[in-house]
Amino acid sequence: MDGGRENFSPQTDLRDFLAACEENGQLEKVDGAHWDKEMGAVVEVLYRERVEKSKAVLFDNIPGYPKGHRCLYGMLASPYRLALAVGMDTELQDDRFALLKAYREKMFNHEPIPPRHVDTGPILENIVEGDDIDIEKIIPVPIHHELDGGRYIGTACGVITRDPENGRINSGTYRCMVHDGQTLGVMASNGKQGNIQRAKYFAKGEPCPVTVVVGVDPTHFLAARMTIPDDVEEFAFQGGLAGKPIELITGDNGLPFPAHSEIVIEGYQYPDETRLEGPFGEWTGYYAGDAEQDPVFKITKIYHRNNPILTCAASQKPPHSHLFERCFTRSVTLLDNLQK
Ligand SMILES: Cc1cc2nc3c(=O)[nH]c(=O)nc-3n(C[C@H](O)[C@H](O)[C@H](O)COP(=O)(O)O)c2cc1C
Repeated sequence: MDGGRENFSPQTDLRDFLAACEENGQLEKVDGAHWDKEMGAVVEVLYRERVEKSKAVLFDNIPGYPKGHRCLYGMLASPYRLALAVGMDTELQDDRFALLKAYREKMFNHEPIPPRHVDTGPILENIVEGDDIDIEKIIPVPIHHELDGGRYIGTACGVITRDPENGRINSGTYRCMVHDGQTLGVMASNGKQGNIQRAKYFAKGEPCPVTVVVGVDPTHFLAARMTIPDDVEEFAFQGGLAGKPIELITGDNGLPFPAHSEIVIEGYQYPDETRLEGPFGEWTGYYAGDAEQDPVFKITKIYHRNNPILTCAASQKPPHSHLFERCFTRSVTLLDNLQK
């Protein structure tokens, strides 16, 4: 590992970020693990045992899929990689308070920079439409945990929607389950901006255009997993964080997506069509609910880079197990002291 990288810019292309991770001993490459619970189990063991000391894990040669169609877990799941992703000094990893302070400064103290619309970019390297749409054939979507309701393609992702009233673009990290090759479930819970925007279309009986980025770049993921104020466009916030305009391409459903994304799925959700979605073992390390009826998302187009990378959230150690261990250790120590 190096002695800290101060002048690395915030990352808007996953491949540049992964190259820097590899250079700095932050990336583990694993060959041949299966999509059916094997990748999920490997990651879960790593992140429970070593927590944030674990490297990001890039799986390749996944049985049944072309070499190069990869899955990445734990992109930002260490202080080092978080610092690297937003262009902070990576030496801050050793001082949590300083890291948090610098991170807050980075995230909340910047002016939005409007995105730049472009006609082309790496995401257009492959376009799949019509009868060729079969997401399970193209992407090695994992079953992450044994009790999951299905294969989850959206875990570290950005779900893009537009407010039909004021035109504001939002991107939120909401889990997405594969129902079949042409249909997903997208679970934006009540109160989330994507849910509020979708409800406005449904109230008028109209389908809601949705674009799901399941191969995200680091700064898009950072923006999507937090609530951005209503008067700031999601990609202007990401641009402010990155210190440059985000390059966006406009898709067939009218929604924009970053030109440097890895995998983008375009389509619509419908007011009157639901299917059972869930349950899912959350990244926080536990199941939070049962399967429920949720609007379906019908895929109209898939875009992906050559050798696409699906970005996946690594399940962390549940907080109650930390607590349990701490209580357990304290009880043992107390007992020890009493016996002395
Ligand atoms: C890895 C990860 C997975 C998440 N999954 C979901 C989810 O499935 N549904 C949901 O409503 N929120 C989920 N969240 C929380 C939202 O992403 C978060 O509340 C975010 O601020 C939502 O964006 P919004 O304010 O634009 O709605 C997840 C967060 C992370 C980091």
